[in-house]
Parts: sequence; C-alpha cells; structure tokens
Amino acid sequence: MRITIIGSGYVGTTIAACFAELGHEVTAIDIDEAVVETLNDGRAPITEPGLDELLEKHIGNHLTATTSYDAVPESDVTFLAIGTPSNENGSIELTGLEAAAEATGDALADKSDRHLVIIKSTVTPPSIGAVLEPVVSKGANGNDAIEVGMNPEFLREGSAVSDFLNPDKLVFGTRSAWATDRLHDVFEPLIGTESSVVETDPETAAMIKYANNAFFASKISLVNDLGNICKEFGLDAYEVMDAIGLDDRISDRFLRSGVGWGGSCFPKDVNAIIAAARKEGYDPAVLEAAVAVNDRQPRRMLELLTSHVALEDARIAVLGLSFKPDTDDIRNSRAIPVVQSLLDQGVELAAYDPVAADEMAALFPTIEYADSAGDALFESDGALILTDWDEFSDLESEFDAMATPVVIDGRRCINRRDGIIYEGLTW
Ligand code: UGA
Repeated sequence: MRITIIGSGYVGTTIAACFAELGHEVTAIDIDEAVVETLNDGRAPITEPGLDELLEKHIGNHLTATTSYDAVPESDVTFLAIGTPSNENGSIELTGLEAAAEATGDALADKSDRHLVIIKSTVTPPSIGAVLEPVVSKGANGNDAIEVGMNPEFLREGSAVSDFLNPDKLVFGTRSAWATDRLHDVFEPLIGTESSVVETDPETAAMIKYANNAFFASKISLVNDLGNICKEFGLDAYEVMDAIGLDDRISDRFLRSGVGWGGSCFPKDVNAIIAAARKEGYDPAVLEAAVAVNDRQPRRMLELLTSHVALEDARIAVLGLSFKPDTDDIRNSRAIPVVQSLLDQGVELAAYDPVAADEMAALFPTIEYADSAGDALFESDGALILTDWDEFSDLESEFDAMATPVVIDGRRCINRRDGIIYEGLTW
C-alpha cells in the first residue's frame, strides 16, 4: 500500500521504517528540514536499536522523506504521528496535531477516491469528534471521501522496532467496515497467531491506549506502595512480588518497585486522562493516588539518604539520569526531582550516566558530570542509584573509594551489599 506518515518523531520514524520493511511504499512528511535531511541520509533522528539499519535499507526506494504534503493524495492511508505534549494542568496540547490534521485535509480537498486518515498520536476520546475530525474536514473543504480513524501505538522506547513488528494487539478504531478493511491491508503481515486484532470505534481505541498506560503506571505505583510497607516491616518487596507474580491474573511483569515511573508516556498519559476525566466532572481516585505515590518515591529516597548522611557540606553521587536504561531520554526521569531537591539544599553533586549526561546538562548546567561511575563515587559521602543500567551491577571496589560508603538503591541493581551501608528503597 502507499502510506504517508505525518510527523517524524519517535513513533513516526519507527512506523515509517517498519511499514517500509513490511513492503509498503512510504513517504515520511515532517515540517523540520533537518529531520527530513537526516532521514534521507538513512539515519534516524532518534536513537533506537535496529532503526538505522531499516532506514538505510529502505530509504530512497520504499521510503522517502519530504517536507511536502504532495504525496498525501497519492497515498491510500495517512497516519498522523504528531506529539501531544502536556499542558500545565495535565491536559494534552493539540495545536501541532491540529495543524497537521488540517494540512492533511487540505492536501486531500480534491481527492475523489476514499482516503483514510489515521490518528497514531495519543489523544483523549472526546478530542476525536470534537476537534480532530472537524479540523480534517475543514482543511478538506468538507470532502466526505475522507474518513478519520484511530490506531494507537503500544511500542516502548528501547525496543520500538521489535515491539512494532511483534505486537500483542492491534487496535483498529474506525467508523466503517471499509476503514477497518484498509487497516487490515496495512497490518496484514503482522496479523498472525501471536497478535489479536481489536476492531472498535475511534473513541474506544483512544481509551484503550490510556487504559493500557494508566494500568501499568498504577500497577507500578501499587507495587511501590506495597513495597514501602514492606520496607517499614523490614521485608523485601521483591520476594513478595516474585510470589504474587506467580498468579497469572497478576503476572510477573512490571512488578519492579523502586523510585518510580518516568518517561514521555506514563506521566503524560496518566495526567491527561485524569484531566480529561475531571473535565467531565469525575475524580479518578486511583489514578490520582498512582501519581501521588510516584511523586513520593524520590522523596523517600532522599529521606533514606539523610537518615545516614548529613547533607551540609556533603558530596553526593547520582548514578543514572535517563528515565530507564538503554536510552538518553531524561523526560520525567526520576533523577530530575532528586537532583533539583539536592541542589535546592546546596548539596555538591557528581552525576554520572553512560549516555544521558548531555541531556541532563542542558537542564542542570552547574553540576559536575563525571566520566564514570567510579569518578562520581570517588570521595563522595553518599550515592543514589536512579537508573538500572547494567554496568551499575558490576560496581564493587568503587564504593571503597567513597568518603562514607552510603548507597541508596532506587532500582535494585547493585550487587555489592557487604562492607557498605546499603539501603534499598523497598527492600
Ligand atoms: C510505555 C509503555 O510500556 C508502552 O507500552 C507504551 O507504548 C509507551 O509507554 C507509550 O505510551 O508510548 P516506555 O515509556 O518506553 O513505554 O517505558 P517502559 O519500559 O514502560 O517504562 C516506563 C517507566 O516505568 C520507566 O521509568 C521504568 O523504569 C518504570 N518501571 C517499569 C518501573 O519502575 N517498574 C517496572 O516494573 C517497570
């Protein structure tokens, strides 16, 4: 099929490369010339395993990048993959997506064949009928050959390509059998015995995405809440969670307690669905509590630190800055509130992350960024572990070079426990 994808960010670039890999003719459209140039050089504007290889393989034949919308009417389906960032009150900002939707409609104004416009971006259910469909239609001068649908994306950073190519579910939110059939054509190579196809309306499809992320975020917050109780009782939360994970109604996934969830998705999506629910007059108590517990975890880490170290004149090592390992993404990383709080208290910091130091330096330019975990730990009075990078599990003698070997582990990734003062957040 001929597919156009508006937006070459995280999701847009990944799906463009993957659709080309599935045998479709793909045009990636982005307003940013630098991004388009990078793509046409066969490189991804983001770091993601396997993505550069796919781009290199398909760019110039099955995949083209451009700033022009000319390919839109020539294609069968257009995917809108524009970011929907958070407003101050947690609601999603639709301006960028609206502009792309209107430009897409405009490009389709004279098309007589039916055309499907699929929202890939994460949007709240009411915004489809109230905002996005009218905006596409306005751009298209009311051309009723155009239909809008929703196909949420469930890939994770760090495994985006393999998640996309091996989905556990595909959600097709449409208003007609014709549109559902088109989505079957697009995803045909991925529809096998392993993946389920959910056929529904666009609003339900949008809600499935929020429910998915809200469920995971709440699951982790519940595990953190229970984990904090375990710690109060002197118990190991991981032993408890390993046991409850044997119940397949709970599953053993996403039971890792610690300093909490970050990233570009869970915080944004949970806050957006809370804001959208409140707008309807409903207070989602469990989701509000999930956010509250998540906000509390970094504070508990600092409380554990101050129970062993007087912060005045202290030098503290902060190990791990990205929101999870294998990415340089620091968006909503748990390291941010921790660093901010220590800086507010005038503490000297030595931070280390294998890849995310530059990103963090843009936010906190005044702190020291060490070249290795050992350098950050050297002569420090305490260490906070905020990301479970593999290399941290190998740290051993580096702790002996600390002025006082106090280690507060927020991710349960430090193996050495003997000869140091070691505190796990929930164990
Ligand atoms: C998440 C979802 O897992 C994807 O399914 C979804 O498509 C994506 O958001 C999105 O909406 O785009 P991602 O943000 O890439 O993916 O990262 P995850 O691997 O889910 O981790 C999120 C956060 O939860 C990280 O900070 C991680 O450290 C934390 N986490 C995860 C825990 O604290 N404990 C766990 O057991 C698992």
